[in-house]
Amino acid sequence: MKFRTRSIHVGAKPDPATGAVVPPIHTATTFIQPGAGEWGKFDYSRSGSPTRNQVEKTLASLEGGFGALLYASGMAATHGAMMLLKAGDHVVAGSDIYGGTYRLLHKILNRSGIDVTLAPAHDTQAFQAAFQANTKMAWIETIGNPLMTIPDIRAIADYSHSRNALLGIDNTFATPSLVRPLELGADIVMHSATKYLGGHSDCLSGALVVGDEQLFKDLYFTQNATGAVLGPFESFLLGRGIKTLDLRVREQSRSAMLIARWLEQHPKIKRVLYPGLEGHPGHELAKKQMAGVYGAMITFEVDGDLEATKRVCQSTKIFGLAVSLGAVESLIEQPATMSHASYAASDKVRFGITDGLIRISVGLEDPEDLQADLTQAIHAGIA
Ligand SMILES: Cc1ncc(COP(=O)(O)O)c(C=O)c1O
Repeated sequence: MKFRTRSIHVGAKPDPATGAVVPPIHTATTFIQPGAGEWGKFDYSRSGSPTRNQVEKTLASLEGGFGALLYASGMAATHGAMMLLKAGDHVVAGSDIYGGTYRLLHKILNRSGIDVTLAPAHDTQAFQAAFQANTKMAWIETIGNPLMTIPDIRAIADYSHSRNALLGIDNTFATPSLVRPLELGADIVMHSATKYLGGHSDCLSGALVVGDEQLFKDLYFTQNATGAVLGPFESFLLGRGIKTLDLRVREQSRSAMLIARWLEQHPKIKRVLYPGLEGHPGHELAKKQMAGVYGAMITFEVDGDLEATKRVCQSTKIFGLAVSLGAVESLIEQPATMSHASYAASDKVRFGITDGLIRISVGLEDPEDLQADLTQAIHAGIA
């Protein structure tokens, strides 16, 4: 079956007891067993629950993986992957990553004796140069954040394997609709499912998907032992969101392309970072890796000072001033003070996360309305 058909039919079978087209939400935390010491398919909902497992099947199919695990949030999923590491191990992570991942790596994993080095993932040589003898994991994002950089996934996967390290990749911005990193050699795909997979800003959730059975078993063991699983109601919402994922992502990407081209021509805009633009340094790679659809996240810089940047962010009427992304409603934010506030000031300077950047998540509204909203906000912000 093709991607869209699988997103609707894999996992979500009609309920055999009633014929209901939408399977029920199973709220049970415990399950009757066939005998003492004999185990049925489900026993306790931390270890597995029908509603969660259905959506795990859908997502594994969409990413082309052996199996998927759903977590209470994207950060819980990333932490789940990082718990594969032990004291003395080292991580090489992209310099253009979500602020919360930066915080996990620098302020939590360091407590367990795990070191991290940041390096630009879009510069394959520089990224490889950051590997050490004890590097066990590389961690990148399919589309870097907030600078929209594009890493060569295949090259980084091959190099990581040559160094006996795993490649984990945060596929939140691209989704399996546009990129399937396991097919390009990555070992672990991570999602903040809170974003495009759920798609409606109403379901905090995370996921890991892997291609290898033993790796799946290791991650499952850790998840079951530590407990950050996704509850049944959120699992239901996530499964419902995934059914329309492909339509949403493609339509939102189409609007983003129009808006990026328009911003590029705007006299008050200094710089537009969007991989769909021919002038973007990662454009050719993105064209190959993303099958010609570039996602719905855009970062841009206005021709004005910090106050002007803030005024633009605060003047939109349709774009909501909020962190997060990937839902039907458009959002706007200032990465330096919002999504990437956790970066050390020196790392923000070093990696170009400047105060003048504005990041937008283009939603499903009519693109003409979005353009009109940005027009009036830029006008209000930069007198
Ligand atoms: C790219 C990316 N990765 C991971 C996360 C963390 O996910 P969550 O907020 O679901 O824990 C986010 C959240 O904003 C994100 O944008």
